[in-house]
Amino acid sequence: MRAVVHTRTGEPGEVLSVVETDEPHAGPGEVRIVVRAAGVNPIDWKLVTGLMGGAPDRPRVPGIDAAGLVDEIGEGVTGVRVGDPVFGQATGGSAAEYAVLSAWAAKPEAVSFEVAGGLPVAGETAIRVLDLLGLRAGQTVVVDGASGGVGSTTVQVALARGLRVIGTAGEANQEFVASLGAHPTLHGSGLADRVRALAPDGVDGAVDTAGRGSVRDLIALTGDPSHVVTIADFGAGDLGVQVTTGGGGQAARLEEIGQLLADGRIDVPVAATFPLERIGEAYDLSREGHVRGKLVLLP
Ligand SMILES: NC(=O)c1ccc[n+]([C@@H]2O[C@H](COP(=O)([O-])OP(=O)(O)OC[C@H]3O[C@@H](n4cnc5c(N)ncnc54)[C@H](OP(=O)(O)O)[C@@H]3O)[C@@H](O)[C@H]2O)c1
Repeated sequence: MRAVVHTRTGEPGEVLSVVETDEPHAGPGEVRIVVRAAGVNPIDWKLVTGLMGGAPDRPRVPGIDAAGLVDEIGEGVTGVRVGDPVFGQATGGSAAEYAVLSAWAAKPEAVSFEVAGGLPVAGETAIRVLDLLGLRAGQTVVVDGASGGVGSTTVQVALARGLRVIGTAGEANQEFVASLGAHPTLHGSGLADRVRALAPDGVDGAVDTAGRGSVRDLIALTGDPSHVVTIADFGAGDLGVQVTTGGGGQAARLEEIGQLLADGRIDVPVAATFPLERIGEAYDLSREGHVRGKLVLLP
């Protein structure tokens, strides 16, 4: 199959190349798909550039997010047939013609492969962080970094759960955050005062999706570090903040995202699509940290 691989870490444009390589196969509990779209996440370029771990010991296909058509079903898998459109998380890479998924859900018919292929990590994470906060309808949540992949999805899931949402973003993304249904404000210095002005009755929970040092402000706003969840500030556990990196239960959370997509309750914009040959450009854009919605590769 055609796939992107890298054998060393470094600048994406230099270490990633499209090659012919062996097809992967579905093991027990897995399905293989013909990839129609593969979303880009920051973890992809963090692994390729060496920010998270060293060089792979054999050629490695990057990418987790994928959507496509099931073409191989592993032992013990039920509830899915060859030809079904699904979206989910790949174990051995997704920037390729074929990918093996360890967790997946049905792609709603009305949702494009591009949108579904951009949502597995962001969607699963959004459900996970909101479940950790355990808020009730009518309560107020702050989402720091509300314009990004995880942030914009978290805003929409929170609104679907009946929460009031205050979302932070840069100047250029204020209108976008408002269009999602959140009350927008700027991220960065002075955050706590700006949020207090928007929520004089207080804030019940907060999500740090950006890892840019906002957790102390978020603790001050909620009054309790356990009411703050971060996905990107790994030192914040020392302050009593909930730090989450994954764990089990992905398939159930992807099901929930699939239902919200089918019901039209969430829709994350695809900022740009790229052929596999231009993966380096996609990763460089993601590294700049200001993409509105998702970047998606089209194998
Ligand atoms: N732990 C986990 O399970 C998990 C899961 C998924 C992702 N992550 C991590 O979470 C982070 C975000 O992922 P993503 O896919 O949402 O990235 P993304 O799409 O690139 O979004 C980045 C967000 O950060 C915002 N931002 C930039 N500078 C900021 C600042 N100074 N203060 C506050 N916000 C700022 C951006 O807003 P503007 O563009 O409007 O400035 C944007 O909303 C990454 O580090 C990723 O690796 C962790």
